[in-house]
Amino acid sequence: MSGAIIRKAISIHSFKGGTGKSNISSNTALTLAKRGHNVVLLDFDFRAPSLSTLFQMKDELKFWLNDWLDQKCELTDAIVELGSRYGTKGKLHVGFTNPSGDAINEMTQKGLDEAWQARVLQLILDAKDLLFERQGVNYIIFDTSPGFALSSINAIVASDQLILVLKADQQDLVGTEQLIKGVYDQTLGKQPELILNKMPVSILKSKENYERILGEIQKQLGVRIVSVIACFCEVLENLGSQLFVIAKPDHPFTKSIEHLATHFEKVT
Ligand SMILES: Nc1ncnc2c1ncn2[C@@H]1O[C@H](COP(=O)(O)OP(=O)(O)O)[C@@H](O)[C@H]1O
Ligand SMILES: [Mg+2]
Repeated sequence: MSGAIIRKAISIHSFKGGTGKSNISSNTALTLAKRGHNVVLLDFDFRAPSLSTLFQMKDELKFWLNDWLDQKCELTDAIVELGSRYGTKGKLHVGFTNPSGDAINEMTQKGLDEAWQARVLQLILDAKDLLFERQGVNYIIFDTSPGFALSSINAIVASDQLILVLKADQQDLVGTEQLIKGVYDQTLGKQPELILNKMPVSILKSKENYERILGEIQKQLGVRIVSVIACFCEVLENLGSQLFVIAKPDHPFTKSIEHLATHFEKVT
């Protein structure tokens, strides 16, 4: 690690659901904390919250992120330190979103209200200042909702580095292109980076094919691919009993996550 203090908010976003955002963001957050960084990971997918399952949280939560956004508590009350559970060198705080049907419906309703979202953006920006300036946090990672959800746009607005996760198929490509044009270019003027996830091993085996496909995608979307992660049945089979990087530290998926963590350590 170089001498400069890292202070980076990163949003992990996609056009479609199921591209791998939650798995990538939680495993990368843990990897960065293992390397000694202080990390805050926030479940910003209010439509399909999944971090409480991925981190195997039972009933020990006093507050959800929902309570913070409703101004019923501070963000520091709604994040839980889990680094000690994994023996990480840095701190790993995670903010969980309530996955109950009632909470999802309530958040979906509120999420459509632009005035409410404007207040949420202010809460995020204030929290970012507090975490970076006063709490020694190095990374804030937002695991967002797919598509054009306003909560995801808020996370993108507050982020310094933007990641879009997609599969290399036509549906994802066309949708991601719309998202880049409609949100990133036009509305925000921010440049995302791409992670191609679940890449079929058959494509990875043929260097010529692989390079052609990557070239075509970069050209079509006009953004840089920073990571290509293969499709591994072992990731699917993990069934969420443990975070993958802990369950299989030598697996190629874990190596891909380590490369991504190194990418986030670079100054951009
Ligand atoms: N590289 C991969 N290979 C195989 N399965 C993957 C891979 N990445 C993610 N998955 C699986 O895809 C599903 C969706 O992943 P998830 O992280 O929940 O996506 P999202 O948060 O974008 O909806 C999960 O079952 C996960 O285990
Ligand atoms: Mg998710």
